[in-house]
Amino acid sequence: MPCPALPDGFDFTDPDLLHHRVPLPEFAELRSVEPVRWIPQSGNVAGFQDDGYWAVTRHADVRYVSTHPELFSSSVNTAIIRFNDHIERASIEAQRLIMLNMDPPEHTRVRQIVQRGFTPRSIRALEERLRNRAHDIVETVRGSSEPFDFVTEVACELPLQAIAELIGIPQADRARIFDWSNKMIAYDDPEYAVTEEVGQQSAAEIISYAMTMAGERKKCPAHDIVSTLVAAEDEGNLNSDEFGFFVLMLAVAGNETTRNAITHGMHAFLTHPQQWELYCRERPSTTAEEIVRWATPVVSFQRTATQDTELGGKQIKKGERVGLFYASANHDPEVFERPGEFDVTRDPNPHLGFGGGGPHYCLGKSLAVLEIDLIFNAIADALPGIRLVEDPRRLRSAWINGVKELKVSAS
Ligand code: HEM
Repeated sequence: MPCPALPDGFDFTDPDLLHHRVPLPEFAELRSVEPVRWIPQSGNVAGFQDDGYWAVTRHADVRYVSTHPELFSSSVNTAIIRFNDHIERASIEAQRLIMLNMDPPEHTRVRQIVQRGFTPRSIRALEERLRNRAHDIVETVRGSSEPFDFVTEVACELPLQAIAELIGIPQADRARIFDWSNKMIAYDDPEYAVTEEVGQQSAAEIISYAMTMAGERKKCPAHDIVSTLVAAEDEGNLNSDEFGFFVLMLAVAGNETTRNAITHGMHAFLTHPQQWELYCRERPSTTAEEIVRWATPVVSFQRTATQDTELGGKQIKKGERVGLFYASANHDPEVFERPGEFDVTRDPNPHLGFGGGGPHYCLGKSLAVLEIDLIFNAIADALPGIRLVEDPRRLRSAWINGVKELKVSAS
């Protein structure tokens, strides 16, 4: 039965849609009427045989696809992009070198290596430094008598610092790396006036910087993650190219996602004052997970069917794209009681904001949770009276639930 709520031409990955809102009512309608639905898309690029994707909206189905990489491949491209929207074949080729776009066994090899940099011990080792960073970031806005932009003044900084600390990027180079990272993720929104060329140039700069770093550590190893990952060039380590693309991936995957989780989390608190009071009083350890469920910064990723298969009663053909709508899964009433309520004490909270649990499940989850905890603890200590001044201005994007600006006042 066709879904009555969706007008002809409705596309969940239309950047103009997320520019205004997350389509929660449409997701709810699909979950109950047609949980796996074909969404046609106009435009095409040579090499892709289809012109649309299956929208998968139920929690159970998103998990199923994520945990069956043999049926649903990541190797074509994981972000659903409208192909008539400035995407070049060359950049798709380059994306294949990023682990998010690999399948087993290649993915398994890279994942086993890079996991060494994300052990609970290595994340704990960053905690004290990141706590001080979070404190310093909040201190800079503490005395502001004027309203300020929470995104640029608070939310942007810690995710970049966390990646820089993790990789051991020297202080002197950080401003350059931060500038490239920000340019690279900005070009979907015309307001940033960053062209695709500048975005790609910035990506190339990051890769080249990281490759140089890898080369130096190979010659002269230090006690850091770079040395651990590249020590000797063999099967059990990354080569310099792989390391370059790994750092690029961190600059994308760990930056904008966490920035938006922090921003949406702040907005959720400002619009749910009882939750903010509760947080300031009790600091529940369940808070960060609820912020990620509520915000779902990554609205969707995609897979491609490796063979004819069935999903949610629909026949999926080999080569067809399948969109995993985490934002919909995170509001599925089959799994969450009162999914429309922001509740920082929610427990259990089996949300899919970090992915559906398969081999690509977010590598940086512990780091992201730590960052969210540290920044909100610092805000609750220093700015318990923080107030909303203007509604958020949203980012134009095909798959990120992003905020460009959130005007707040320190008291
Ligand atoms: C993968 C979300 C923070 C590194 C992913 C995936 C999602 C996600 C949805 C894909 C999962 C899948 O396909 O099954 C988020 C969110 C974050 C966050 C919402 C913040 C709130 C981070 C951070 C880092 C990071 C801080 C590292 C510094 C990665 C990497 C992958 C990944 C490397 C690819 C893993 C693989 O392909 O095996 N993340 N992420 N993420 N994330 Fe995160």
